[in-house]
Amino acid sequence: MKPEIIVALDFDNVDAAKKIVKSAGDAVTWYKVGLELFVADGQKVIEFLKNENKKIFLDLKFHDIPNTVTKAVLTSLKYETDMVNMHTQGGPEMMKTTVEKIDEYCDKTGVPRPLLIGVTLLTSLDEAYLNIMKLGFATSRDYVLHLAGLAKASGLDGVVSSAQETPAIKSALGYDFITVTPGIRPASASVDDQKRVVTPKDAKDMGTDFIVVGRPITKAPDPKKAAMEIQEEMC
Ligand code: C5P
Repeated sequence: MKPEIIVALDFDNVDAAKKIVKSAGDAVTWYKVGLELFVADGQKVIEFLKNENKKIFLDLKFHDIPNTVTKAVLTSLKYETDMVNMHTQGGPEMMKTTVEKIDEYCDKTGVPRPLLIGVTLLTSLDEAYLNIMKLGFATSRDYVLHLAGLAKASGLDGVVSSAQETPAIKSALGYDFITVTPGIRPASASVDDQKRVVTPKDAKDMGTDFIVVGRPITKAPDPKKAAMEIQEEMC
């Protein structure tokens, strides 16, 4: 199966986001709204994306006590987004409580339940972080697999991780456990500040479900063409 492209709307205002969505047209269905854009213009951007019939990944990476994360995700249901995430490092109780309350609320009210996804280890962190935090894992891959296992056991639908970790996550936790992978660069694109990049074709071959692509599409002279080229690379 070909992964879905999620375009990261990393902007500080709704107008910049609108411009990309309009120019990408029907070449892109999924968009990621992260901290910067949500803080700047959250309500407006969500309304705009819903009007355009786009799917929304609300990337606010919640991490707090179980009650606070549960309430934040419950409150986010008013936006009817399609995917919401939280940090797996918030622990099993935080994840489990949130999943249980969301399931209960959505079952009772018929409000659509978003996919609930856990952030494992940010790609900006590596073995030096594991050492300084005295986490006791030899490699970041071991830690990511551990966090993904906790996410699955807590009832989350999948995790954000690098594409390189997808095969190990899928074989350990099952092929229906979703992986969402940033750090994607088409063969011809600049890597920008990403360190461990994977091409769309490799991400597909590694079995990932969603690829998150920002600048290769949002900074392209023709975002629609850039998105279509990524689709073709994955054929
Ligand atoms: O422009 P680029 O394709 O590098 O954007 C990638 C997007 O994915 C950004 O929104 C970035 O914050 C996000 N991301 C990431 N690495 C992670 C988690 C999220 O690059 N581990």
